[in-house]
Amino acid sequence: MSELFTERNRTAQALFAPLATTYDRYARLLSFGQDPRWRSFLVSRLEAGRADSVLDVACGTGAVSLELARRYDCRVTGVDQSPEMLDSARRRVGNRVELVEARAEALPFEDATYDGLTFTYLLRYVDDPAATMRELTRVVRPGARVAMLEFFVPGNPVARASWEVYVRAGLPVLGRLISPGWREVGTFLGPSIRDFWQRWPLERLLEAWRDSGIENVRARPLSLGGGIVVWGRRAG
Ligand SMILES: C[S@@+](CC[C@H](N)C(=O)[O-])C[C@H]1O[C@@H](n2cnc3c(N)ncnc32)[C@H](O)[C@@H]1O
Repeated sequence: MSELFTERNRTAQALFAPLATTYDRYARLLSFGQDPRWRSFLVSRLEAGRADSVLDVACGTGAVSLELARRYDCRVTGVDQSPEMLDSARRRVGNRVELVEARAEALPFEDATYDGLTFTYLLRYVDDPAATMRELTRVVRPGARVAMLEFFVPGNPVARASWEVYVRAGLPVLGRLISPGWREVGTFLGPSIRDFWQRWPLERLLEAWRDSGIENVRARPLSLGGGIVVWGRRAG
């Protein structure tokens, strides 16, 4: 699979490989404990049934996958391109979740295989978010719920100013204190989030969702706009 990796795929691989064993602890700390709350809201958007099969793309260490399995008692498949993150996921989810190493841009599944789909912090790491949306939508059946979680940029000027201070100063310092891998994340994350939402303002992103075949698309910013959940239903 490695020869198919784009430059952006490789950058994400290099970023996440050293984080796998400490990801859960520090992701929670660096988001001031908001991260698990956001995932919980994401999972609540799925409304899956016990007989359903749900796909969780960019599953990382498996936090969303496991919450889906626990909440809905459904079958869950987690996909990630990072073998290191999948190793950590394997330790966490045991046999409750099937794990597959693959890229979101080229999923190894037939059309309309899944009854629901989640993806978390993914679209900043792909070259063409609209094409990736089409690929994600391809593998869910008509009527299936689709939901994503992403970091967001607060709209309120006071919250935005605090956010800027945190990502420009706080995050890089905290990252440096933790480890070289987290130092990389501390400097990368703010510009990555800012750049993504400049290229893909929310309306443009929601349009890409609709163009990929998802209807009833809705979005809810969380924690003063530090995070956002988008969800909808595959048309047809
Ligand atoms: C910030 S982590 C999120 C992990 C998890 N979903 C969570 O909520 O904690 C982002 C994950 O996306 C994965 N990833 C990045 N680009 C990807 C791609 N093109 N295809 C599949 N996974 C990708 C990374 O390997 C990483 O595990």
